[in-house]
Amino acid sequence: MAIRNIVKEGDDILNKKCRPVEKFDQKLHTLLNDMAETMYNAEGVGLAAPQVGILRRVAVIDVSENRNELIEFINPQIIAFSGEQTGNEGCLSFPGQYGIVTRPDYVKVKALNRFGEEFVTEGRGLLARAICHETDHLNGMVFKKLAQKMLSKREIEEMTKKRR
Ligand code: NI
Repeated sequence: MAIRNIVKEGDDILNKKCRPVEKFDQKLHTLLNDMAETMYNAEGVGLAAPQVGILRRVAVIDVSENRNELIEFINPQIIAFSGEQTGNEGCLSFPGQYGIVTRPDYVKVKALNRFGEEFVTEGRGLLARAICHETDHLNGMVFKKLAQKMLSKREIEEMTKKRR
């Protein structure tokens, strides 16, 4: 496994639509392994392939406290959603920036695993938010475009104080 470079704000690759995965081969498995390692190393809760420079519909998410509930999504499609949550959101491609984004509070998603087998999963709260955020990346949509407001430096300081 290897840690890959994370593409940062300003790189046009973040605005591009990704193509579906068609081959479930070793190259895909290496990409998935590297994406997980890169996400954990950066202490993120999700990472999409365009963030490591690959325009394919691949994302990894782990919102668990213990960092041991990795979900790999290939060609994901949100098939149902409901409710609403409004809260702070960040992105590994926008280090140090946070914005207020409204998302569904519940989503149901259909995707393929690394072997090309279909699965359906659902998430609420932070997991629902992460699924929306990462599937948006695959369509060239970044959270900053959806944010009703970006947090100021002072607001970010307040937020990190509360977390401690
Ligand atoms: Ni992101």
